[in-house]
Amino acid sequence: MKIAAINASPKTGASNSGIILDKLNGYIGKRCEIVNYSLSSKGFSEAVYSDIVASDAVVLAFPLYVDALPSNLLKMLIELEGYISRNNANDIVVYAIINNGFYEGEQTRIAFEIIQNWCDRARLKFGGGIGQGAGETIGVMKNSSISKTLFGALERELNRLAEKIESTAAYEIKYLTPFLPRFLWSLAAKYAFWRPLAAKNKLSMKDIEKRIA
Ligand SMILES: Cc1cc2nc3c(=O)[nH]c(=O)nc-3n(C[C@H](O)[C@H](O)[C@H](O)COP(=O)(O)O)c2cc1C
Repeated sequence: MKIAAINASPKTGASNSGIILDKLNGYIGKRCEIVNYSLSSKGFSEAVYSDIVASDAVVLAFPLYVDALPSNLLKMLIELEGYISRNNANDIVVYAIINNGFYEGEQTRIAFEIIQNWCDRARLKFGGGIGQGAGETIGVMKNSSISKTLFGALERELNRLAEKIESTAAYEIKYLTPFLPRFLWSLAAKYAFWRPLAAKNKLSMKDIEKRIA
């Protein structure tokens, strides 16, 4: 059983998609071989596509960009579709883990439809996945003890998803939010993240409230 785990965040350094994929890898049993790929903006070579299509399952982990897919991932999917069609390599189940900046994981619904449509077009099976809201909070809270509480549902669902991936079985599409009411999350983001970030960039409150005419 071979699993291709693709981090398709365009970020070059640490990414929330990477953190989530690491967590998923931890839940996948030792008898499975996991090959990790980082897409960034460079794209993949033919050799990598050949490796990916030799997998039983592909997990795409990526951030939501403008309610859809980042362009590096779109380009990669078009190339992968071509490779699949030239090599009749359709025996792959595709799962997706999408994280987004806004609170509600439901924001990823359209991106899931895009992945499902791509699977239909490439004649691959779509296995479902997770849409996680408040994605940036995952990275910010990574080393905090309350992270396990805030993202307890994500841990549980990654565990369930891992079990399904191990047998290439269908999982559902699960939309998740952090375990914190929206207004508290919003307040915490304002005072613990956005304002310190503005100060670090030498911006006053007046600067960040400025409207462009
Ligand atoms: C160009 C761009 C577009 C984005 N569009 C959305 C969006 O439409 N909805 C949303 O909730 N978050 C959006 N985000 C936020 C990212 O999805 C979020 O920061 C995510 O956690 C980044 O994940 P990564 O670290 O795996 O790249 C956008 C971010 C960027 C840079």
